[in-house]
Amino acid sequence: MERDRAGQAEAFDAIGDGYDNAFPHKEGQVAAGEWLAKSLPAASRVLDIGCGTGLPTARQLTEAGLEVVGVDLSAGMVELARRNVPDAVFHRLDIADLVPGGPHDPGRFDAVTAFFSLLMLPRREIPYALRTVRELLVPGGLFALSMVEADVDDFAIPFLGNTIRVSGYLRDDLRKVVRDAGFEIVEESSYSYAPASTDAPPEEQLFLHCRRPV
Ligand SMILES: C[S@@+](CC[C@H](N)C(=O)[O-])C[C@H]1O[C@@H](n2cnc3c(N)ncnc32)[C@H](O)[C@@H]1O
Repeated sequence: MERDRAGQAEAFDAIGDGYDNAFPHKEGQVAAGEWLAKSLPAASRVLDIGCGTGLPTARQLTEAGLEVVGVDLSAGMVELARRNVPDAVFHRLDIADLVPGGPHDPGRFDAVTAFFSLLMLPRREIPYALRTVRELLVPGGLFALSMVEADVDDFAIPFLGNTIRVSGYLRDDLRKVVRDAGFEIVEESSYSYAPASTDAPPEEQLFLHCRRPV
């Protein structure tokens, strides 16, 4: 499938840890991390897709005794994540590179997280990315996903002094895309969220706790 990543990694390279300052409140994300931590045995493997700075998720899961592998398109984010969470492993990789059986196959995982990272893909790639996540999970494996509720496809927005392109769905459509990719949705929550310092307007964040059926 054709990929257009123009400007996406560059934006996050430039934003760096400014991202953590702009989005300090991450209740939904931390709650999803707690769900994984209490559901998984110690030393379970977790893949964090679009890990950003490693905060809070890679650190939270590592401190909970899980083995975390993080991937991100932005070299700057990977560098920050390595510094913030030295006990996890990070790779600079595109979500689309994580194909099972491919040259960057990261192995199989007991859980996968993708917090606000699949929204960086054009819509045509999202079902494919979700099916990849499913294949990377062991049967019964857990998947924590967050997206912003919005009916947009590859839509350019100003973001912390940069321009990024984002996609989203209204919640009924998001549930359908996730179920069609082969997941059960076991819990759902939403948070109305006004970032501390960004030119983006308030947003509705959707968190889905999912499972790959056995
Ligand atoms: C909005 S940030 C979210 C970061 C982190 N998951 C969090 O919630 O704090 C999106 C992250 O996805 C990364 N990203 C964007 N496109 C990606 C892609 N195609 N593959 C992997 N990571 C990507 C960005 O570099 C950025 O770090």
